[in-house]
Amino acid sequence: MASSSMVPKVKLGSQVLVVSAQGLGFMGMSGNYGLPKPEPDMIKLIHHAIDSGITFLDTSDMYGPHTNEILIGKIRGALKESGVRDKVQIATKFGIRGVDGKTEACGDPAYVRSCCEGSLKRLGVDCIDLYYVHRIDTRVPIEVTMRELKKLVEEGKVRYIGLSEACASTIRRAHAVHPITAVQNEWSLWSRDLEDEIVPTCRELGIGIVPYSPIGRGFLAVGPSLVENLIEGDFRKKMPRFQNVNHNKTVFERVNEMATRKGCSAAQLALAWVHHQGTDVVPIPGTTKLENFNQNVGALSVKLTREEMTELESFASSEVVKGERHAVMHMTFINSETPPLSTWKAKL
Ligand code: ATR
Repeated sequence: MASSSMVPKVKLGSQVLVVSAQGLGFMGMSGNYGLPKPEPDMIKLIHHAIDSGITFLDTSDMYGPHTNEILIGKIRGALKESGVRDKVQIATKFGIRGVDGKTEACGDPAYVRSCCEGSLKRLGVDCIDLYYVHRIDTRVPIEVTMRELKKLVEEGKVRYIGLSEACASTIRRAHAVHPITAVQNEWSLWSRDLEDEIVPTCRELGIGIVPYSPIGRGFLAVGPSLVENLIEGDFRKKMPRFQNVNHNKTVFERVNEMATRKGCSAAQLALAWVHHQGTDVVPIPGTTKLENFNQNVGALSVKLTREEMTELESFASSEVVKGERHAVMHMTFINSETPPLSTWKAKL
């Protein structure tokens, strides 16, 4: 079994946020992938994660929506009692809302504030350790959203600020208003678009990188059978890559074959590749199962040579993988840019 001494702590970004070298993604617990999972099982999993040394917990107000943050709120009493609260780092997010049955990004200042108040209540904490803009509102200059976030930091309601799916110039503009601690983007063997501009920008500015979906939303761990078993309502069904599974199955087959050769699981190999991107990279694999959780912690011990990294990369190059990483309706949600600040001033 994983022990806490096995999971190193790393500094995320240039401020003083220290997190476990791997986090835990919570989205699947509250139904965004299929049905919500039984609460007692999830509470057991979260306690097990913390006991194992995985202390960087990643949620969002839109997981559920809201029920995922409430789940963390429920373990808060236990955390307080055992004195563990100070040892966990809770990251949550705002910025995606449902309007007329559709989802849209919102970065309006009043919305930022009301979301933060809501998350603090549901989580049952006085301060959010890391507060991300979940998706970038392409109507609102990032400076406007950031100024409100900066106020929340000054008021002690938020410790550190992060962005998710912002393009490089948006990251730069946001960082000029208030230091950005972490950028959370999809990064895995089959999603590497951030490597051209976003990763170099983060490194130049001293911003930590938090890859979400590091095992390809489960595909790099399980392969085509995952897709065959998706239930109605699991949004992966609508994702182009999951609709091209006959083509993309070779990616999984090759990763899996190499994993067998190396004596680890496909999930561990895919995750190890992400860990090998640098100590400033802290992936947050999501799972709802103890055995998968333990396997993912084990990925921290899988060592890869440069040759093995190159071999793995050849299995999932952009020429090999068919389909975008997000559904067409959500394409404005990735690597997004905001209008210049002058356009907002002109509106006021
Ligand atoms: P996301 O960040 O979107 O959650 P991910 O971390 O790449 O994406 O993958 C999460 C998916 O992989 C989940 O469907 C998870 O399923 P379980 O909840 O059933 O575990 C699956 N997954 C995670 N770790 C796994 C592992 N070691 N083996 C098999 N499937 C795994």
